[in-house]
Parts: sequence; structure tokens; C-alpha cells
Amino acid sequence: MLLENKVCMIVGAASLRGIGYATAELFARHGARIAVVDISVNDIVTDEIRRSIAQNIGRDPHLIGIKCDIQSAADCAHAVSEAVKTFGTLDCLVNCAGIVRATPMLSIAEAEYDLMLGINLKGSFNICKSALEIFKPLGKGSIVNLASVAAQRGGGLVGGAHYAASKGGVVSLTRTIAREFGPSGIRANVICPSMIETSMLDGNLSPEKFNEIVAGVPLQRAGLPTDVAGACLFLASDLAAYVTGTTLDVNGGSHIH
Ligand SMILES: NC(=O)c1ccc[n+]([C@@H]2O[C@H](COP(=O)([O-])OP(=O)(O)OC[C@H]3O[C@@H](n4cnc5c(N)ncnc54)[C@H](O)[C@@H]3O)[C@@H](O)[C@H]2O)c1
Repeated sequence: MLLENKVCMIVGAASLRGIGYATAELFARHGARIAVVDISVNDIVTDEIRRSIAQNIGRDPHLIGIKCDIQSAADCAHAVSEAVKTFGTLDCLVNCAGIVRATPMLSIAEAEYDLMLGINLKGSFNICKSALEIFKPLGKGSIVNLASVAAQRGGGLVGGAHYAASKGGVVSLTRTIAREFGPSGIRANVICPSMIETSMLDGNLSPEKFNEIVAGVPLQRAGLPTDVAGACLFLASDLAAYVTGTTLDVNGGSHIH
């Protein structure tokens, strides 16, 4: 049990096929109490997540669902305060919320750019800021943000220029948090996955393109949500007590740099 009784907020975890859900399940298996935060959360979704986790780990998780649009600073402050009200504290934030669009640069309209940056970058800033307001006086806490290999290699897999730019921002944001809040006992790290089989790929990738990408991966397969969840567990837990400001690649060796 690597997270016994720890209170972990997993943002962007409403889809049972997603990285956030896989992380919530793995964290629950390791004894964490979980706040699942997502724009799509409601009572039905929360029950579905609770039932699925209970079935897979063999016991009922301590879990609440909180609806939140991370584009809104007020929503983020509310989500964090609800989690603290329910569980008494907050130990860890994993931010998996995000969107992707494959639009070529010259076809990206201003509204699409604003939405992409609003969710992926401003949203990450908002939710990290709200969590840090709790972590700072406690003198501890851990943040794991989800960026993408698109930030490192210049897009080119699934997301367009706006997606790659937003994820580059998430890498910089995380590094800055690590530097600014390290003296306060707070760690912040970022994960760069490559192609992971979630609903994010639906409609954004043809089967031919999928197979072409897999053929270039040294480990010869696409990633699974559980592959990324394992990396989140490492970074969130005390196993990574001296790890901060790092970028952890979860890409099957497809981008070795
Ligand atoms: N799947 C991949 O190939 C891949 C690759 C690299 C990076 N990533 C990143 O991993 C993270 C998780 O993606 P996923 O593949 O599990 O996809 P997903 O679509 O299952 O998860 C994203 C979640 O974010 C939520 N969300 C969207 N907008 C929101 C908002 N404004 N406020 C709150 N929640 C919001 C969605 O409802 C969804 O549940 C994302 O940040 C994504 O960019 C995914």
C-alpha cells in the first residue's frame, strides 16, 4: 500500500476508459481516499466509477465525485474545498483533464485555440493553484500533471499546434511549481505519454495511422491507461520523495531523447 489514507484528487477521471480513471483505481487499490473531479461528473458517473473500482479491487473505495470545469478558477477553488471538507486534508493532485484536436495550424480558429489553451493550460494553472493554497500551509503535497510527447517532439501524432503548445506550457508550469514550492516541501512532476488507448483517440486517428505509429514504437504496442497510472503512482507516492521538476516519459521508447 503506497498511498494508505492519503487524500488524492484525480482531475479528468470521468471516463472508465481514461488515464484518470485507471489512476483512481490504482490509487484506491493502494489505500488512497479519492476525489474524482471532472466537468462530466454527476451522481450517475460517480456511482459507475465507485462500482467499477469496488469490483476490480474487491472493496468499496472511499470516493467522492465533484463536478468542475477547470477553466474556472472559482470551480477549482470549490472542488478543492469540497475535497478538504469531506476528507479533512489534501495530499496529492493528479491532473489528467484535457482535450485534443487534430486540426492543422492554418485551420485553427481563434475560438478553438482559446478553448484548447483554456482547458489544457489555464485549467492546469487553476487547479494547481487551488491545490497549492492547501499544500503551502501544510508544508507538503505532491502534484502530477499530464502533458504529452507532443510537447517534446512538436506535435505530429494526434494533436495540432495548439495542443502541443498547451502541453509545452504544462511542462513549464510544472517545472516552475517544483522550483517555487520545493522549499515548502511540495513536489511537482509532469508525465509525457505518447499514444495511449483511451477515448481521446476516437475520431482523431485512423486505424492505418494507429498501426503506423505502433510500428515505430520499440515496445511494439500502444500504451494503456494503466501504464500511465503506474507512473502517476510512483510520482505521487513517497517512492519519489526526492523527485521533483522531472518529466517522466511513458512512451514505449518511441521518443528517446
Ligand atoms: N490518450 C493519449 O494518447 C494521450 C497522450 C498524451 C497525453 N494525454 C493526456 O492525458 C490526459 C488524459 O487523457 P485521456 O487519454 O485519459 O482522455 P480522456 O478524454 O479520457 O480524459 C480527459 C478528461 O478530461 C475531462 N475534461 C475535459 N475538459 C474538462 C474541463 N474543462 N474541466 C474538467 N475536466 C475536463 C474530460 O471530461 C475527460 O474525462 C490528457 O491531459 C491528455 O492530453 C493523452
